[in-house]
Amino acid sequence: MSGSTPHGGILIRRFDPEADLSQATAGVELDAFALSDLELIAIGGYSPIEGFMDRRDYESVVERMRLADGHVWSIPITLPVTEETAAGLQTGQQVRLVHGGVVYGLMTITDIYRPDKQAEARHVYGTEDVNHPGVKKLLNRPAVYLGGPITLTRRTDKGVFAAHYLDPVETRAGFAAKGWRTIVGFQTRNPVHRAHEYIQKSALEIVDGLFLNPLVGETKADDIPAEVRMKSYQVLLDKYYPKDRVQLAVFPAAMRYAGPREAIFHAMVRKNYGCTHFIVGRDHAGVGNYYGTYDAQLIFRHFTSAELGITPLFFENSFYCRTCGNMASNKTCPHTSEHHVALSGTKVREMLARGEAPPAEFSRPEVARVLIEGLQALSV
Ligand code: ADX
Repeated sequence: MSGSTPHGGILIRRFDPEADLSQATAGVELDAFALSDLELIAIGGYSPIEGFMDRRDYESVVERMRLADGHVWSIPITLPVTEETAAGLQTGQQVRLVHGGVVYGLMTITDIYRPDKQAEARHVYGTEDVNHPGVKKLLNRPAVYLGGPITLTRRTDKGVFAAHYLDPVETRAGFAAKGWRTIVGFQTRNPVHRAHEYIQKSALEIVDGLFLNPLVGETKADDIPAEVRMKSYQVLLDKYYPKDRVQLAVFPAAMRYAGPREAIFHAMVRKNYGCTHFIVGRDHAGVGNYYGTYDAQLIFRHFTSAELGITPLFFENSFYCRTCGNMASNKTCPHTSEHHVALSGTKVREMLARGEAPPAEFSRPEVARVLIEGLQALSV
């Protein structure tokens, strides 16, 4: 068999451009974050989820990292609306899901509830600190959640990513056509630097294909914009990766910065895209110092491999060692940190913004060039 079985057994498909909108008299406005969730539910990226979570699923996910039916799920998928909007709605009602004046879908409301956002922040993000970008976003979104099954009636505009936008049904077919039986998924919200390349290629030594799946949904303002990153992935793949062993496609979800919880979520979604393996390196989906370096690996111990249905591949912090003369980690290199080329993400972004390329041991020169040009084009 090629690839993995979708989470919950079947790939959810809830896109119907012919759906009858006539019963849906009221409209509910979605922010960009909820719109990306709507589409991901509909294309099966979030299988077995079929709609925005009702209170039962929501509380179960928040408190025990499982849907009410027991399936592993670590991140709430919610539709927040204002008190004012909620006051005009009732359960059983069908509503249009609208973004920027355009109708994208339908939802039958099964639940209207007020979440305990402090508890959500504590459980999901491990902190109530409003400086945490995920917590800030959570608290800034409206106070009432709507739950219920959705139908997507219109696909979103893929813009500059159109060529790299593949649904799970397409990636699955693509993996099968390539004859890949084992596929490793790689999540990133950053350019692919040498450390990323090293762990991807280490994984590729033991599986058939690499699914490079950069997140292009909402990210925090100081992350490198997705359109700039996309070009850097392409030059890197062209020059340094075997073409028949890599599939590049964008991941349209918003970044949560939920560290360990998001690592589980990222793994489940990549399983739905057909991956059998998933890379979790150091501080996966982390931000600042909120999570321990390997917390996102340790969290996988809460679940059996059967209930995960995808094999996580854990990697130590990787770097270039000048004395070894190659990429390494503390598992493979005996030298102390003075021998290693290591730069923080913040430092690298500052260098790139100044038009300065990081050392070739940190970032391929072709990648650095594209990033510098891209960032300069954005700042004019
Ligand atoms: S993330 O927020 O999308 O996880 P990033 O794009 O930096 O951030 O990381 C992508 C993946 O590479 C994650 O699994 C992360 O743990 C891993 N990773 C990033 N840098 C390193 C490194 N130097 N050593 C080992 N793993 C790393």
